[in-house]
Amino acid sequence: MCGIVGYVGNRESTPLLLEGLRRLEYRGYDSAGVATMNGNGVEMRRAAGKIAKLEQAIADRPTHGSVGIAHTRWATHGPPTEKNAHPHMDEAKTIAVVHNGIIENSSSLKKSLEARGHVFASDTDTEVLSHLIEELFHGSLEDAVVQALKRVEGTYGIAVISSRDKDKIVAARKGSPLLIGVGKDEWFVASDVSAILAHTRDVVYLEDGDVAVLTRSGFRVIDHSQSTVTKVITQIDWDLDQIERGGYAHFMLKEIFEQPVTVENTMRGRMLQEEGTAKLGGLNLTDEQLLRIDNIIITACGTSWHSALIGEQLLEEFARIPVEVEYASEFRYKNPIVSDRTLCIVISQSGETADTLAALREAKSRGAKTLGLVNVVGSTIAREADGGIYLHAGPEIGVASTKAFTSQVTALTLLALKLGRLRTMSILQGRQVIAALSALPKQIEQILERAADVEAVAEEFKRAQNFLYLGRGYNFPSALEGALKLKEISYIHAEGYPAAEMKHGPIALIDEMMPVVFIAPHDAVFDKVVSNVQEVKARKGTVVAITTRDEESLEGLLDYEFRIPETMDMLTPILASVPLQLLAYYIAVKRGCNVDQPRNLAKSVTVE
Ligand code: AGP
Repeated sequence: MCGIVGYVGNRESTPLLLEGLRRLEYRGYDSAGVATMNGNGVEMRRAAGKIAKLEQAIADRPTHGSVGIAHTRWATHGPPTEKNAHPHMDEAKTIAVVHNGIIENSSSLKKSLEARGHVFASDTDTEVLSHLIEELFHGSLEDAVVQALKRVEGTYGIAVISSRDKDKIVAARKGSPLLIGVGKDEWFVASDVSAILAHTRDVVYLEDGDVAVLTRSGFRVIDHSQSTVTKVITQIDWDLDQIERGGYAHFMLKEIFEQPVTVENTMRGRMLQEEGTAKLGGLNLTDEQLLRIDNIIITACGTSWHSALIGEQLLEEFARIPVEVEYASEFRYKNPIVSDRTLCIVISQSGETADTLAALREAKSRGAKTLGLVNVVGSTIAREADGGIYLHAGPEIGVASTKAFTSQVTALTLLALKLGRLRTMSILQGRQVIAALSALPKQIEQILERAADVEAVAEEFKRAQNFLYLGRGYNFPSALEGALKLKEISYIHAEGYPAAEMKHGPIALIDEMMPVVFIAPHDAVFDKVVSNVQEVKARKGTVVAITTRDEESLEGLLDYEFRIPETMDMLTPILASVPLQLLAYYIAVKRGCNVDQPRNLAKSVTVE
């Protein structure tokens, strides 16, 4: 997630800007920059990578001035390089802009600006703003910004400075949060209050359409017709720690609750309703190349391996291509059968998992086409794969993966849809899948509204020593994922199993001390799951079931039940995973575990 900080007052701005950027680090980023006004002009320093790199660049060539803006960039379009880092400037270096959001009409604006002689230095959408503002500048920076924004479609939170209208920051908001900090004879602009809380608790939240003008004598807010907008000052009574988690007790909980938006973001712009297929721009494979694929290997670790198991069923059912799922740590040391008609899909939230990266390199060295399903833009796996699908789920801070999992399954469904429609899938089937995908965000919201019901179940099991998770078909991987969530944050031993496998051993474990979670949607294998529930109940096991409707056949068999909305069989893992994430979360909290940083675990296992 990008971050914005700005300052105008009587102190040196650079240290304050860097401090603000550091406060925003938790949001995830991959490059950063500052621009300050030093009396003669605008000075800019930028660096790819962490803020320490930017600090070094500034130490090498210090910047001065008591007016400045700064930015941390989470790359969505254009790799995380120095030239793509914000701020962005016009050719004459008189205007500097930092921007959060997406300018949807940037390519047409860029073309017309280039036709009028503007020379672009980056691959970003943001740079069109600096050239537009420069072109529209006739003495007043706020006038030029308002005129420029009238030409922009999309979302933005911006801050702008110019050596042609000194000692001023112009900020504007549409769809991307931005606020003003009111200090003592100094004013701040920020995308997140954590950046400035050390200096003031008095903030003014900007609304969409607001344009703020900050100078040494104060700030005012106008709308696009330049009429004054009255704003109230809000006093912040949160502490920094709470703010970074958006008011949630833990990042994991915040990320669980982000899933209606993150699943939407994974799908955004990638579904063609009319043609009943998916549009995946980053595959870097033509339809002919996709049609030549005669076998698929999916390789990953942990939660990503679980989504791979769902992908296997999706691709075999929709695209009728044989799929092998391999633990990356195993695949890399095997002598795998790979040809130039093999597609190797590599799934990794971080894009840096050592085993997964090694597996990717192994598959590439044997001639496979490779696709990365990755969340972190510009990560090693994303860069080394031949093509890919970014999850666009935003930074996942909690070590236990939640929103990345649901976005991975969503992305795999889109890929299976595209491949299926190239082969045997009908347009009607395709439209059905798109309709079911489109309903997911709302359905996830409905589940989250009942989080308290899951917390009540967690209260019953916070002292359990063992858990079994059982599912069939698409929900065997859901069982594995539910078990992993619980064990990795609550330290309770938990196992996921195909429900039918119970009779081949694990049923010996069942007694009244063994809670068994069944994922039991009303799908193609529901009746079989009912028999497994009966087997467990007959041995006094405690049964918790995730269901999608009132089931006469389960009458009297369930100790606890959590209802999820109905959807197509292959999408039930996305909905079923939400209560299972919450169950693990609440049990772990009730056991006093460190939910965001569980013992012995790292967010990204970059070593073997
Ligand atoms: C998931 O909750 C775990 N944190 C872990 O299994 C993780 O999924 C695994 O390490 C793979 O990480 P990646 O997706 O970043 O490659």
